[in-house]
Amino acid sequence: MSATSHSSSGHAWILSTGRFLPEKVLSNKDLEQMVETSDEWIITRTGIRERRIAAADEFTSSMGVKAAQRALARVSLDPMDIDLILVATLTPDYVFPNTACLIQKELGAWNAAALDLQAACSGFLYALAMAQSLIVSGMYRNILVIASEKLSAITDYQDRTTCILFGDGAGACIVSREPHGFRIDKVCLGADGCQADLLIMPAGGGKEPASRETVENRKHFIKMKGNELFKHAVRRMEFSLKECLEACQLKEEEVGWVIPHQANSRIIDAIAKRFSHLPPDRIFRTVEKYGNTSASSVIIALDELVETGRVKQNDPIILTAFGGGLTWGSAVLTYEAS
Ligand code: ACO
Repeated sequence: MSATSHSSSGHAWILSTGRFLPEKVLSNKDLEQMVETSDEWIITRTGIRERRIAAADEFTSSMGVKAAQRALARVSLDPMDIDLILVATLTPDYVFPNTACLIQKELGAWNAAALDLQAACSGFLYALAMAQSLIVSGMYRNILVIASEKLSAITDYQDRTTCILFGDGAGACIVSREPHGFRIDKVCLGADGCQADLLIMPAGGGKEPASRETVENRKHFIKMKGNELFKHAVRRMEFSLKECLEACQLKEEEVGWVIPHQANSRIIDAIAKRFSHLPPDRIFRTVEKYGNTSASSVIIALDELVETGRVKQNDPIILTAFGGGLTWGSAVLTYEAS
């Protein structure tokens, strides 16, 4: 387990956010035609009604570019002012070159270094922690953090236990020295490699390269032990939220908004029950319309919440996520618009 915090010398800030969701909608009714399931089962067990699916010519890189362009446009920042592009994804366009380099080219961010990182659904929080520390250390001024996923590329549409859950989409934010937007007060991260087999794509890496056998055995798709993951997800996010709240000496009732990873409404409900002083209407949800978009779920939700205009000056916002690895993380942000 590890933790990252801001130095006393200053803070990093999220200047702006952006998101992109593909147009194509895959509804529960559509899934009824593909596997043995029902709209009613999916809604009751997950809270998901529909999810977005990338077109054949949409990729993790292209969706990431669109989300990034929106975040840049909101603060009129020139791509040449970006020092580093960090991309959190488990569905990169290629094993290499990294997706961050592909995005750098499309944006024309020629002054930026470019790096991918992978922490499954917690990827955005891991990237945020890295960006925060590189800003606070004084190494960089502006970092473009992107979380983008084309999960449809690794989802088995013959497996009803997983294909109902996942969707595609991208979110982005500019993390900066400039004191404006969301102040990053604290980021807490954790991991447990003993549970790596609970959520895995078995083939396509160095251990089991692609072969006729791996394709025939459908090993290039997500394999998940959903029941066990569910329990870990609730426990780990509860622990992580408490860790972050305590570190910031923040009481539950003082929290403006909670944005949990959008994996399943029942996971979100179970977490809400463990924080009885958190107002339930302050837990922001997008899971119903986008499903689980892995690394991008939390930043897509933050961007949507900002757009509603319901975030008030000095509101503390808590993000929390959990994913394969296992990995988890939480962050406390404070909104200071001006
Ligand atoms: N339609 C109808 N029936 C189904 C479906 C479906 N789509 N899927 C499973 N079932 C059946 C099962 O076969 C089982 O039948 P049986 O009792 O005859 O054996 C029954 O429904 C119950 O199955 P469970 O797996 O116990 O269902 P559960 O209530 O646990 O819900 C779910 C399954 C939705 C996957 C849940 O376990 C979950 O959300 N887990 C967490 C998943 C998660 O968070 N994963 C991602 C982490 S994020 C990341 O890193 C990508």
